[in-house]
Parts: sequence; structure tokens; C-alpha cells
Amino acid sequence: MNEPSNTTRPNGSTPRSLSLQDVGPSPSILVVDDEPIVLRALEKLLKRAGAKVLALDSALEAVAAIEEELVEVALVDIRMPHMDGLDLLARIKKSRPDTEVVMITAYATIETAVQAIKLGAYDYLTKPFDNVTDVVAVVRRAVERCRLQRRNRELEEAIEVKTSFEGMVGRSPRMREVFEVIDSVAYSSSTVLIQGESGTGKELVARALHKRSPRKEGPFIAINCSAVPEPLLESELFGHVKGAFTGATTHKKGLFEAANGGTLFLDEIGDLPLPLQGKLLRALEEGEVRHVGSNVNQRIDGRIVAATNVDLERTYREGRFRKDLFYRLNVIPIDMPPLRERTSDIPVLAHHFLRRFSTRDRKTIEGFTQETMAALCSYSWPGNVRELENVIERASVLCREATIDLHHLPRHVAENGGPALSEDGTPLSGLPYGKAKEIALAAFEKRYLESILEKTKGNISESARLAEVDRSNFRRIMKRYGIDAKRFA
Ligand SMILES: Nc1ncnc2c1ncn2[C@@H]1O[C@H](COP(=O)(O)OP(=O)(O)OP(=O)(O)O)[C@@H](O)[C@H]1O
Ligand SMILES: [Mg+2]
Repeated sequence: MNEPSNTTRPNGSTPRSLSLQDVGPSPSILVVDDEPIVLRALEKLLKRAGAKVLALDSALEAVAAIEEELVEVALVDIRMPHMDGLDLLARIKKSRPDTEVVMITAYATIETAVQAIKLGAYDYLTKPFDNVTDVVAVVRRAVERCRLQRRNRELEEAIEVKTSFEGMVGRSPRMREVFEVIDSVAYSSSTVLIQGESGTGKELVARALHKRSPRKEGPFIAINCSAVPEPLLESELFGHVKGAFTGATTHKKGLFEAANGGTLFLDEIGDLPLPLQGKLLRALEEGEVRHVGSNVNQRIDGRIVAATNVDLERTYREGRFRKDLFYRLNVIPIDMPPLRERTSDIPVLAHHFLRRFSTRDRKTIEGFTQETMAALCSYSWPGNVRELENVIERASVLCREATIDLHHLPRHVAENGGPALSEDGTPLSGLPYGKAKEIALAAFEKRYLESILEKTKGNISESARLAEVDRSNFRRIMKRYGIDAKRFA
């Protein structure tokens, strides 16, 4: 390594071009090279520049070191025995995505260096180093980038903390309101009724109410009233005595009692059969239940939280739900807004899920392209947060790049608000006009039909009337796109 003549000044200080002091606290640097001369020279240079240096001549040792030490920048030789530099790069990026990697290469392997950059390396240096100031300059930039990225991530996490509440994220005014209501009613034992479309987070709200309550050490018991057949549901909820019915071979406590000291979450309460509605009302009013087949009352004191994705007010007007029970449950109403009415939650939710799935799958996906985020924000999300969660999981699995792009989204999401891509992912601008128009038209027709059907809850005659299209025509177009009206009912 040829050092410039001004390396050592008369007063012994290191010139700025060869010092890393201006980046802040002494940076931690790992150097991995199997050539002792190169290794020692880099170690000496970087130490003199003010860095903490770990110099290793084996990639395998480096893999172990990276797990244990905080390394901000790693200088990695491309050609080494046992494990080549590209594999080491991948290992480093996987276990320490924040660490910046600079490849060291001889001229002969410059192609590989370019490939390394595509794989996430920050830069490369060519051996022999003709000018050490260049080496220090590259390291300085890498350290700065590493620190900047880390700071951004910390900021992001801080924002995430502010926008999250007991596992729920959201920054829209509507969700903040929900968080506030939860906070202010969690202490009481009044009954809560959570209403909202499927996938809006009702169960999360029920759990948050429990976690924030003085009963948090007690049990949280959930039962889905639509999933259990009526005779069984009664004994599940209220318990039974031995011999109460065929099959009741033992005495069994019900969920109401099991939830004493905690919370009982009655999910899909709208599907509770009418006879049980009467019994539930009695239990709530008296604070007591009676085991099936018994005439002795048992005290209950669990907090009741009920949820439904059907409009209960409409259900009781139609005679399928007891009005008195509705009012008894609806002491504290919490309405979960559909995702399309709180678009500002979409980016935070999308990042939240991306982080969760990419960590789970050990991937380093940084975010979304602008077009992708725009598509996510303009889509109507009939399946609400659950649908968004599934879309992000799929995208994260499919994505092999650093950012999620439109082609990682299902077509109906990517193309909403006008398709940008053809089936094979070509942008429309890359197709002849006729073909592009055909694709755009098809996407429009499908989306138009779906949005009308959504409005009419799958009523075809009503949809055809709104669209001012003949009913049989409407059906024909639906069939062409394989749209099933039941999906919207
Ligand atoms: N605000 C949120 N932040 C993070 N995840 C959320 C949020 N809202 C919902 N989810 C996630 O979306 C999915 C659906 O939520 P949840 O099961 O609570 O919905 P739901 O309203 O009970 O739906 P359903 O009516 O179909 O039972 C879950 O995986 C949940 O973790
Ligand atoms: Mg639910």
C-alpha cells in the first residue's frame, strides 16, 4: 500500500483525509481477508484513522463474529478459501441488515464486485490500494450510511410506538378515537358491544380491553357463537349438571363461570339463536347463570365483550335479535370503521405487516415503491385489515428484491384505479395501443361491477338498475369476469 507523503505531519496528527473522527463516535469495522499483508495494512490504516478494528483472516470466523459484535462496516475480500465473499456478504446482510459491506477485489474479479453491489454491498475497493485516502473515504461514507439508516429505523420505530396500541396500529383520527375509548372504559365492567365489518380488528379490540383492565391477570375467554351448534352452545356458555342430557356424563362448568375475574368475549353475537338470547339477557341482568339441568344459580362476574359484523340494529328490527338484549349489550358501543374510511392507516399497517413477515422469513425488504403504496391506498379493501395483512404476506413471500413492487400485489389490488400492468407484468406503456386498451377496459369493467355489487350487497337486479344496464347483460359481464354475487352478500 503506498501511503501519500503527508501521512505523518510534523506534529504527529493524522490528516483529515485519513481520519474517521469526523463521523462521530469511533466506528466499529470488521476486515476479512485471507492475505495477511492486505489484512494488516487495512487494520493499521483504519486504527490510525480512529476506528475499532476486528481483523480476521477467515470468513467462517467472521460469520461468528458478526453475530456477537456490533459491526457497522465490514470490508470483505471476494476471493477466500472455504467461503467466498459473496456468501459472506449474504450472511452478514441476513443477520445484520444495518451493517454496510464493502467488497475488496482484485481487477480480475471486478464483475463479481458489480454483482455484489446488486446483492446489497455498499461499494467495492480494488487491490492493490493505490491511494489510501480513497479507502478511508469509502469507509467513511459507509459508516455514515450505516448510522443514518439506523437512525431512520429508530425514528420509524418511535413513530410505530406512538401509533400502536396493544398490538393494534393506526394513526387515523378514527382509530385514535377507538384507542381512547378503550383506554377510558377498560377499567369498568360495563358490557361493550363492538360492531364492524369482518377483518376490522374487533377481536384485537376485545383483547386490548382485557389487557388494559384491572382483570388482565384473569382469563380472557373467547367463544364464536356462530361456530357452535345451538344445544352445545347453551351448555358451553352456562355449563350443565351430570345427566342433564344424553352425553352429559359429568358435571361441567360453563364459560361464564370460567371467565370469572376476567373477560368473556362473545364473538358473532348476532348469530346467537333466539332462545339463548333470552337466557343470556337473564344472566347479564342477574349476574347469575344456571347450569343446564340444575335449579341452583351460580354467580358470574366476568366482563362481557360482544362483537358482531352484522348490523344488530337492523337484525333486531327484522325480529332476529332481541331489542332488550341489544340495549343490554350496547352499554358501551365501539364501532370499528372499515379500512377504506381510514386510508391514512394503510401505510402504517402495510409497513407493520411487512416488518413482521420479512422478519419471520428472514428477508431484508426495505419498503414499497411509490406506485405500490398508491395502489394499496386506493384499493377498497372489502376484507379490511385481514385482507391487507394477507396481501402483504403474499408480497413479502414473492419479493426477492429490496422493495415491494406492483407485480408482487394481486392483480385486482395492483390495477385498481386503472391497471398499470399486463398479465405478465409489462407496463401498459410497453404494449401496442389496442392491447393496452383492452386490458384497461377489462380491469375497469371488473372493478366497476364489483364496486356496484358491493354497494348493493350482491343484489344483481338492484346493481343492474344502478348501472342502467339490462339485468341479463349485467349477469353476462359478471360471468365473463367470474364474479360471484354471493361474495358481496
Ligand atoms: N389495527 C390493527 N393493527 C394490526 N393488526 C390488525 C389491526 N386490525 C386488524 N388486524 C389484524 O387483522 C386480522 C383481523 O383482525 P380481527 O380478527 O380482530 O378482525 P375481526 O373484526 O374480529 O374480523 P371477523 O369479523 O372476521 O372476525 C388479524 O390478523 C389482526 O391481527
Ligand atoms: Mg373476529
